[in-house]
Amino acid sequence: MKILVIHGPNLNLLGQRNPEIYGTFTLEQLNQKIKNHFPELEFEFFQSNHEGQIIDRIHLAREASDGIVINAGALTHYSYSLRDAIEATPLPVVEVHLSNIFARESFRKNSVISEVCLGTVSGFGAHSYLLGVEALKEHLKQ
Ligand code: DQA
Repeated sequence: MKILVIHGPNLNLLGQRNPEIYGTFTLEQLNQKIKNHFPELEFEFFQSNHEGQIIDRIHLAREASDGIVINAGALTHYSYSLRDAIEATPLPVVEVHLSNIFARESFRKNSVISEVCLGTVSGFGAHSYLLGVEALKEHLKQ
């Protein structure tokens, strides 16, 4: 089973960016944690600060991946192009967030991608990704 994990804008700054909200671990450490937790799965990790590159990566994924876990960062809240790309992919997509987007500023409470995702995990720090991968794995097994 091959899972593509996509990290959106500003997630390359993990460890330095608002550590009280996002944690003190780096993106590299987060990716390693995911790999260590699921030795039975194959992973590809992709981070970009550019909406179009993320959309291109989702288009490509249909050739090579079985499912996608995405933390779209702030694109979550306004990117209809990202939403359309997710809607257009035949792959199952799980939305994850480190922070609880429902417990923060009001603009973060709305996700324009949730409706076209299999489900959403939000608020559990790095564990959100592990829960998201677990849910995707179970979905793909069925
Ligand atoms: C985030 C929440 C978003 O609102 C924010 O813009 C991010 C990170 C999270 O993981 O909690 O960049 O997706």
